[in-house]
Amino acid sequence: MGLVTIDHTTCAKDGLCGDVCPVGLFDTNTEGFPVFRAGGEQICFDCGHCVAICPSSALQHERLPLAQSSAIDRTLKVSLPALDQLMESRRSVREFKTEPLPQALIHQTIEVARWAPTAVNRQPLSWLVIQNPAEVQRLAGLVVDALRQDADLPPRYAAFVQMWDQGMDPVLRKAPHLVVVHGPDDWAWCAEDGAIALSQFELAAAARGMGTCWAGFLMHIAKVYPPLQAALGLPEGHSVCGALMLGMPKYRYQRIPPRNPAKVEWR
Ligand SMILES: Cc1cc2nc3c(=O)[nH]c(=O)nc-3n(C[C@H](O)[C@H](O)[C@H](O)COP(=O)(O)O)c2cc1C
Repeated sequence: MGLVTIDHTTCAKDGLCGDVCPVGLFDTNTEGFPVFRAGGEQICFDCGHCVAICPSSALQHERLPLAQSSAIDRTLKVSLPALDQLMESRRSVREFKTEPLPQALIHQTIEVARWAPTAVNRQPLSWLVIQNPAEVQRLAGLVVDALRQDADLPPRYAAFVQMWDQGMDPVLRKAPHLVVVHGPDDWAWCAEDGAIALSQFELAAAARGMGTCWAGFLMHIAKVYPPLQAALGLPEGHSVCGALMLGMPKYRYQRIPPRNPAKVEWR
C-alpha cells in the first residue's frame, strides 16, 4: 500500500485533495480519480489537508489514519463577539493564587495548543510543565543569579535583583507553574513555533479561567546561563523556544484599555 490510497467506491472525483495539496502530489487518472504521485511519500509533509478536505472520507493517508481524524462538528458555532472578547481581554497575569492547578486542566490546554501551526508541519516542540511551585521559584532564583553576575546590568534589571532580595519575584511572579516549550537546537523556526504554540495555549488557558504571562526573562537567560540550562534539564540538543508562567489569577480584570491603533498600509 502506498502512502495515500483512494477508495474508488466512495471517491466523488471532485479533485479537492489535489486542489488543496500544498506540494501538488496528486494527478488525475483517465477515469478522473486522483492518483498520489510516485515518490510523493518523500515530499509529503503530512499536513493532512487531503484527509481533512475529502467530504466522502475516500482518502486514506497511512501516517494520518481516518480513524484518528475526528470530524469537524459544524453545529458547534463560535460566537464571534465572544471569541473577539477573549482575544482582546487576555492579559498578562502577574498575581496568582497559590493553589496549584490540576494536571488534567493543564494537559487539556496543551492538547488544544498542540494544533498550532509549525513551519513545514515539523511539530518539533516538546512541553515541560514545572508543576512544583518551589521548583518554579528555584528557576526564578537562577535567573536573578545570572542578572547579579552581569557587571553592566541596566538599572531596570538591577531593580529586579533588589526586588528579589526583598522577597518579591519580578521574574516568575510567584506563579505556581511554568510551561516551557523546547525543540532541537538546529531548528530555525524554534522561536516562531514556540510563540505560536504558547499564544494558542494562552488563549485556551484564558478560556478555561487560567492566567498566563510570558516568562521573557527566563527565556532570555536560558539561552546564556548554564546553571539555568542544567536546572531545566532539557533533553540533549534541545533549547527553550518559549515559556509562560501559569496559574489561577488572583484578580479578575474588568476592562479592555485601549491599545495603539493598528498601523496598516492598504495597497
Ligand atoms: C515575548 C514576551 C516576553 C515577555 N516577558 C515578560 C516577562 O518576563 N515578565 C513579565 O512580567 N511580562 C512579560 N511579558 C508581558 C508583556 O509585558 C505584556 O504582554 C504587555 O505588557 C502587554 O500586556 P498584556 O499581555 O496584559 O496584554 C512578555 C511578553 C512577551 C510577548
